[in-house]
Amino acid sequence: MALVTRVPALSPPLSSSYIGQNLPPVTILPFIRRRVSRARVVSAMATSSLPTVLVTGAGGRTGQIVYKKLKEKTDQFIAKGLVRTEESKEKIGGADDVYVGDIRNADSIAPAIQGIDALIILTSAVPKMKPGFDPSAGGRPEFYFEDGAYPEQVDWVGQKNQIDAAKAVGVKQIVLVGSMGGTNLNHPLNSLGNGNILVWKRKSEQYLADSGIPYTIIRAGGLQDKEGGVRELVVGKDDELLQTEIRTIARADVAEVCIQALLIEESKFKAFDLASKPEGTGTPTNDFKTLFSQITTRF
Ligand SMILES: NC(=O)c1ccc[n+]([C@@H]2O[C@H](COP(=O)([O-])OP(=O)(O)OC[C@H]3O[C@@H](n4cnc5c(N)ncnc54)[C@H](OP(=O)(O)O)[C@@H]3O)[C@@H](O)[C@H]2O)c1
Repeated sequence: MALVTRVPALSPPLSSSYIGQNLPPVTILPFIRRRVSRARVVSAMATSSLPTVLVTGAGGRTGQIVYKKLKEKTDQFIAKGLVRTEESKEKIGGADDVYVGDIRNADSIAPAIQGIDALIILTSAVPKMKPGFDPSAGGRPEFYFEDGAYPEQVDWVGQKNQIDAAKAVGVKQIVLVGSMGGTNLNHPLNSLGNGNILVWKRKSEQYLADSGIPYTIIRAGGLQDKEGGVRELVVGKDDELLQTEIRTIARADVAEVCIQALLIEESKFKAFDLASKPEGTGTPTNDFKTLFSQITTRF
């Protein structure tokens, strides 16, 4: 039973006091009071006013961390995930809140997008290594994209499909994870598999920034499967960090920034590069409001 109408929970940003402000007194619901305790009513009302957040690419390496973190924050979010295959769904626990769909096919993602308040996009074309590479022989491996799964189809058409679908349901914020390097057309990642991956990522970032929806575009440095929360995070612009030693970041830290972006107003209408200092140097970041406040760039 829906006890309260959905609130525009992400604007202003969510906090426990904010949730509390949206709870009408139990006394206005006498028909419910007859059947259940006040505590259960308040608990159910708080749940139904929480924002529903969908993370796409939820079976991916960063996406699954975001999905797990969202699920753990039961007092702040209702989590949903979108994955491409049933295998990915099983990999992240197979819960009913995980939808299977292909972002290249707008119809297939509609059920996952339905009813959401915020969207975190963590889908990406994934280059595959050509068979026959022998690391012991030296040289570099070659990569390719499968037919139909080039960055143009996934990082452009697929992201655009998600943004359009989210806009149609009145989503309040979209967080998009992209990559550093996009200011350089000649970046080596663009020649990978002839995919121009950074060009297509940048195009979808621009599309989001022009959409009118509050957005947060995170252009991550080289991703590492390391522990999160133990490094000082650094934001930048225009790939300037690529000229420094601060060029990598743990996937777990990117995941945390995605979540914090939903909670902190200062993250909205911003696009920024994100990396971290080496562990043991600097102070581990825990004040995300200050981090987002340092960003001055809308694109
Ligand atoms: N690797 C780096 O060093 C680096 C650096 C900077 C930024 N980034 C970017 O950061 C983001 C996260 O990276 P990551 O390495 O954590 O991601 P990842 O593990 O490569 O995950 C990408 C996800 O996208 C999903 N996907 C691909 N095509 C899809 C489709 N047509 N429909 C639905 N889902 C689809 C994949 O699903 P399946 O598993 O089912 O294929 C996969 O789960 C990506 O945008 C990446 O480009 C990466």
